[in-house]
Amino acid sequence: MPDFANPFQGNVHRKMTRDELLRAIRLDIAGELEAIFIYDAHVDATDDPLVKKVIGEIRNEEKAHVGELMTLLRILDPEEAEHFASGEGEVKEMLESLERSG
Ligand SMILES: [Fe+2]
Repeated sequence: MPDFANPFQGNVHRKMTRDELLRAIRLDIAGELEAIFIYDAHVDATDDPLVKKVIGEIRNEEKAHVGELMTLLRILDPEEAEHFASGEGEVKEMLESLERSG
């Protein structure tokens, strides 16, 4: 848990290696997804229209951040990008199969 009263909390002692950077970006993506989940819950839990609008817009910005971070990950780790593409391809095949049979 971060100690926000500690002025040295965020100090960096060295730069990340490539692997550490990739892990950090994945963790950043997880943080963005968690934020989206929490903002959605807060929007659902209030009837205040201004709060719904503002928090809903903040949530949507987090979705854009997921896209930015995913794009970074694809660029920095082409092998991982192949796994993403493989998963996308599998779902698209299932969708086309459903559309043919439906
Ligand atoms: Fe964000």
